[in-house]
This record gives sequence, structure tokens and C-alpha cells, in this order.
Amino acid sequence: MEIRLTSGKTIPVLDGETIYRSLKRQGVYLVSSCGGKGTCGKCKVRIVEGQVETLSYGKLGQKERAAGFAIACQAFPKGDLLLDIPRESRLAVGDKIAVSRSRDLFELLESFSTAVSPVVRRLILEVPPPTIHDNISDVERLKRSLQEAGIRGMRFSHGFVKSMTEALRNAGWKIVLGYTEDFEAVFLGSADKYRDRYGLAVDIGTTTVVVYLVNLGDGRLIDVGSTYNSQIRYGDDVITRIVHATEHGGLHELRDAVVSDINDLLAPLIERHGVDREDIESVVVAGNTTMSHLFWDLNPASIREEPYIPTVNFFPRWKAGTARVLVNSQAPVWTFPCVASYVGGDIVAGVLASKMHRNPEVALFMDIGTNGEIAIGNNEWLVTAACSAGPCFEGSGIKHGMRATEGAIESVRINPETLDPELGIIGDSKPTGICGSGMIDVISEMFLSGIVDLKGKLVKDRGGRIREGEDGAEFVLYEDAERSVVLTDVDIENILRAKAAVYAGVSLLLKEVGFGLEAIEKVYIAGGFGNYLNVDKAIILGMLPDLPRDKFSFLGNTSVTGAYLCLLSEDLRKEAEEIASKMTYMELSVSRGFMDEYLSALFLPHTELGLFPTVASLMKK
Ligand code: FES
Repeated sequence: MEIRLTSGKTIPVLDGETIYRSLKRQGVYLVSSCGGKGTCGKCKVRIVEGQVETLSYGKLGQKERAAGFAIACQAFPKGDLLLDIPRESRLAVGDKIAVSRSRDLFELLESFSTAVSPVVRRLILEVPPPTIHDNISDVERLKRSLQEAGIRGMRFSHGFVKSMTEALRNAGWKIVLGYTEDFEAVFLGSADKYRDRYGLAVDIGTTTVVVYLVNLGDGRLIDVGSTYNSQIRYGDDVITRIVHATEHGGLHELRDAVVSDINDLLAPLIERHGVDREDIESVVVAGNTTMSHLFWDLNPASIREEPYIPTVNFFPRWKAGTARVLVNSQAPVWTFPCVASYVGGDIVAGVLASKMHRNPEVALFMDIGTNGEIAIGNNEWLVTAACSAGPCFEGSGIKHGMRATEGAIESVRINPETLDPELGIIGDSKPTGICGSGMIDVISEMFLSGIVDLKGKLVKDRGGRIREGEDGAEFVLYEDAERSVVLTDVDIENILRAKAAVYAGVSLLLKEVGFGLEAIEKVYIAGGFGNYLNVDKAIILGMLPDLPRDKFSFLGNTSVTGAYLCLLSEDLRKEAEEIASKMTYMELSVSRGFMDEYLSALFLPHTELGLFPTVASLMKK
């Protein structure tokens, strides 16, 4: 049996395999928010010719079923198939993602008033060559020279010793030795041949992976690579990945997926700039707790089980060779420390990059990405929590939800007279779905124009775009002969749940430390989503607190920024460890007050309108 794609490719089908499995085996990936369980409906495909046996049609409506659509993870070919994969089902792994500029980064590093001090230090040494009378071994000889230079207790790994005999002789006994700040030898080369030294700063996000290639001599950002995290094939959020790692024996698969992403990003960078892999001598990685565990091939099972304990928060400094990252195999990898199972190194990196831990003013740090983590505090205290907002702002659980890629509706304005929406679409194409910023825009606009009520329910007689769909009431954002993009009552409910979780997290954390909203002097918004968020609309939705707009700043991807800073500074690596030790983690799911806060925040913008004065005045207008 085989599947022919309308794009031309042919894929063999193994016995008992779903369409989804066959495609994946051949490197054709579909959006699969639920990881192939048949619940998200994102992996839909159109059977142009042939027959399938299907376990379930999931969320597919009658119209789509009649048009030949099926859910790939639930459909088994009964013979040869001709298959069409609609654009919204294709997983575009490899897309470019917005990244920082070199000058801004270096200025930020300088603003910390710290010296450039990479993980690996260098020492030039002249080692007396052996003679028949001075015949101690190479390791003892090197140790003796180090002692004379005032360095004792250097440790030598097996990998280092294996290569040193040749390296010492090739260098003519005039060597440059690279070693870590805790005295472990990393590499040995010729002191006569000056070589540039490089490092990698890596952000492993649940959705994206970003790699910075940095010159460790001058701190210059040489180049950047970014892509979607290929683990997305196994599910959108950390929970589906943990399930895949633990219940389906997929731990190594997940590790391989993300490490290949890093290696694939690195290959063109070093080629473009003529960098030798062996000269990449240190790596700093920042990721949430699950991503950090998966990167190191550590079983993340206990992260998901009460009492939610990770294997490690402060990672030992393991080697690039162990992680299978294709740089100098002895290069130390410094992993950002995590705080708890659901507040990871990416948040510690974010707090570091924001500098909130250095200033006396109380600041709120929010990373609204695949989940939603928050930290509040200043130079004396820091509290943090994960909000369980879920990945709905990235399209999961929303009928026509999608990531911010071509075809996504990213902004919406509703004409108050005609109640017709004006759509801003990514790329030069017809809309295929709606992304997070579009969702926030459309609900706040629908609310102000009376299309949804305080509870987020569609008001049936408000304009001709509300109709009864297969999943209940829906608002038509776009429709042509081939497709429609709608927002259903259920979608709105899911978005309100996510925003309520974020807002409730903020209010509860504040209450726990005995402060009101007015105490917040600064709000830092991080994460890919933070780049495109319209603050006014997010306040109308009731996701962000109604504070003066000049208190909000967008910091972009603070996880990779933090990784860059720590790649270049020993002081900042220590500071990051202090932040992680100092942060008090609150488990919101067991907090008594959380449910009350959450229920109050489920309304538009909130049951207590007094908390949202600017929205109240807009409503009056
Ligand atoms: S329904 Fe197939 S991946 Fe979710």
C-alpha cells in the first residue's frame, strides 16, 4: 500500500499504520497539538482517491467529512490513497523566527558592568619537553607546569587525556590550555596559532529553538539561527511531550529531535562564517524544566506526577559530547538552573535579562508563550508561579487556531457601525486561521461592539455574522467558496480560561506577598508572543492588569538573551544561580485562593470592573 500526495511525493504504508504515522515516518509532519490522540483535529487531511477506515472524525464537521476530510491520526488506509494536505495542517518546521540584534545585546551585557569571562578560561604555558633524564608522563608534566604557574587541582577527563599526547607534540610544547572556572581541562592547542574562540547560546522553547553563535573574545553575536522545535511532532505542550517520553518510550526520540534542531541550525552558521566546530568551546542552554530534562535525555515523568518533582534543578556542567551537540566534544555545557517543575531556566534567564532582581522597584515579569509563567519581585525578594494557561494562544484547542505563520489573522478591527471585521493577515494570502494576537484583538473588539457579552457568549441578534455552526454559535471572520474562519462560543470560552489563568496568577501572587496592583512599577513581557501583543487589547480582554501603558515593556526572547549573557560572564552565571535559589515558587493548583481569583477573571474584563477603570470608561462610550 502507498499514499501518493497531491504534491507528488509517494509514501509506503506499513501494516496497521495510520496515515499520520506513515507520513511522520517519511518526514512529512502534520500539526498535532494532541500528539496523535484524535482530540485536537489539527492533523486533518483530504482523501482525494481511495478508502480509509477511521476510528473517529474528532472535531470534523459534516461539511468537511462530506468533502473527504479525515483525521490523519485516526485513519487507516484500506488501499492506495491520493492525499491532499491542506496548508493549515502542514507543520512548517524550519521557519525563521524574530531574533535580537548584536549591538543591543552587547550594550545590555555592558550595562551589567561585568567583565567578559566565558565558561572556559585560557592559559599560555611552555611545558619543558621530556628527556631521558626528565621522563615523567605527559599528564604529570603538565601538572608540574601548572603548579609552577600557581594552578593546582586541575582535573583531566578521559577525553582530554586521550588527545593530549598528540596535541602537546604538535604544539611543540608551547601550548594554550582551555579550562573551566572549576579547573577541569577542556582543550589543548598550539600557543603559536591564535584561534578565535566561539560559544553557543541556545534557547530551547517548547515551540521554538534559537541558537546564537557568539565570538567569546569580544562578545560579538556572529549569527543567529532559529526554527520550530521538532518535538512539536509529538504534541504542542510539555504534558503531551512528557506522555510521549514516558508512555510511548519516546524519550530518546524527543532528545534526538531537539538536538538535531540545534545541530541543523549550527551547520549553516559555521559554514557561512568559516568557523571550525572544534573552536566552539562552550555552550549555554536555557529552557523550561521539561525541555532541559529532554535535552539531557533525563526522564521527565516525575514532573507530571504529584508532588511534581523534577530530577534536577541545578544541572551539573556536562559536556557537549554527552549532549551530542556537534561542537568541541569536551566543551562544557552550562544549563540554566530551574526553580520547579513548571518554572524553568527560561524564566530565570528572563528575570536576569530584565534586571528586575537588581532594582528596588517591584516588577512583574510575564512570559506568555506555550504556557504562561510569571515572576514578581525586586532586589530583595522574588516569587514565581506557572499559570497553566495552556497553548491556546498558539492555536491549540481553537477551531481555526494556528501559530503566527502565513495565512494567520493577526489583527482584527470591528467596524462599530456595520459590525464587519477588518482583518490583518500574515503574508500575502487568504486567511486560513487565527493566531494568538488575532484572538486577543477579536475578542476585545467583539466585546466593545457588543457582539459578545460579559461572559464571553455571542449575542445572537448582534449582526449577521453570528450563526449556528456544527459546534454551536460561531462568529464568521472570513468566508469564501472554499473555506471559512470562525470563532466559536467554545473557542471564546477556551481563550477566556487562558486569560483568566494568567490574570488570576498575577493577582494571587500579589496577594500572597501582601501587595496590590498599584505596587507594580514595571511590567516586562517576554516570549515570542510578547513581540506582537497589543497591550490595550489584552487589557480589555482582562489578561493584563489595567496599569498605565508606560509601565509595560516588551523584551522579546529573554531566554536566549539570558543565555547570551551567561555565555559571556561568570558573574552573571552566579547571579542566575542566585536568582533560581532565591525565587519562591508557588503551586497555584493547590492554592485555596486561586479558584476564586480564576472564576472572577473568567468575565470580560473581570467581575470587579473597578480593577479595569480604562475598560470601564471605554464601555461607557
Ligand atoms: S487529532 Fe490528530 S494529532 Fe490531534
